[in-house]
Amino acid sequence: MQLRHPSIRLAMAAAALTLCGYSHAQTGPIKVGFMLPYTGTYASLGNMIENGFKLYVQEQGGKLAGREIQYFKVDDESEPSKATDNVNKLIKRDQVDVVVGTVHSGVALAMARAAKENNTLLIIPNAGADAITGPMCSKTVFRSSFSNWQPAYAMGEVAAKKGHKKAITLTWNYAAGNESVKGFAEGFEKGGGKVVQNLTLPFPNVEFQALLTQIASQKPDAVYSFFAGGGAVKFVKDYAAAGLNKTIPLYGPGFLTDGTLEGQGEAAQGMITTLHYADNLNNPRDKAFRLNFAKTYKANADVYAVQGYDAAQMLLAGLKAANGDIKKMNQVVAGMEKAEIDSPRGKFKLSAAHNPIQDIYTRQVKGKLNEYQGVAIKQLADPGRGCKM
Ligand code: PHB
Repeated sequence: MQLRHPSIRLAMAAAALTLCGYSHAQTGPIKVGFMLPYTGTYASLGNMIENGFKLYVQEQGGKLAGREIQYFKVDDESEPSKATDNVNKLIKRDQVDVVVGTVHSGVALAMARAAKENNTLLIIPNAGADAITGPMCSKTVFRSSFSNWQPAYAMGEVAAKKGHKKAITLTWNYAAGNESVKGFAEGFEKGGGKVVQNLTLPFPNVEFQALLTQIASQKPDAVYSFFAGGGAVKFVKDYAAAGLNKTIPLYGPGFLTDGTLEGQGEAAQGMITTLHYADNLNNPRDKAFRLNFAKTYKANADVYAVQGYDAAQMLLAGLKAANGDIKKMNQVVAGMEKAEIDSPRGKFKLSAAHNPIQDIYTRQVKGKLNEYQGVAIKQLADPGRGCKM
């Protein structure tokens, strides 16, 4: 009985192949590629994101939907000119199933383009570039963080409500800084204020002195700045050292004081910012998260850790919907789109463009904490201007 009809033999071989592929898809590890800044001004942000992501996986017993997780890493150096090559190391060389990254908007824009072209799942655990969940929106690209517009617009509203009329903005001249300033102006001017000047310096420069002198001579009612990481530490200290914090309040999206208070110390005390996270939200979900994070890493969690943690939660939602088979992209995407993420920041769902719809909090720096003051805007959705999925 060795002479089977050739078509039967072919069918049997095909079945064996399918079985092999299937069993591999179900049992091999899920390859997660971190593309994050591990050097430069945003290095601490990259580490917090990775730690947050891994903490969630560890809490699930090291597996997501029954699948082991294998990690790959690329340091993107917050360098847009290297971004396409870097992301292709993960997509083409390492053949990862999902890319998680990054912090810098300019780098993330290139990553989103590559993810779209290669039909690769991308979860952005920070970078707020508005276009990614706007005109560039894509089925396989998700964000666990915010759009640059969200916290900035809220800060504009809050500053206007405080009665400030004339503001100067100061930021790094790249997508995140420029979009943040634009979002602030929108909220501020709707509330009756006016942005009278936009000052910038190149990313990631920290020579603020000449710009601070300009602000001192123009005496606006308020200053709005987007800086983060190492640059934010230096900026807030320089602002205080110039004596400006005594006369002209400094506002910003919460990145200005998140994960930075250790370094900013006295200079940051009393500062008010807006963000989708605060240090003492006082809900059981957040308390448990912060406790486990502190135990595991001997450090306090910050907004970046939360965004990394939630990126892993979003991946799990997708995997569950596809019974652990990440190759079933349509099911993974549908699962992520439908998910309600039980985040330490508060539960959130995604907009049609795959960006969190979330409360933006007003916070004030007290000691080493960004203390919750109230909700600036409830359930704020990025307008997703120009997104056609
Ligand atoms: C960004 O480039 O989008 C960015 C970087 C750092 C932050 C927030 C946004 O803290």
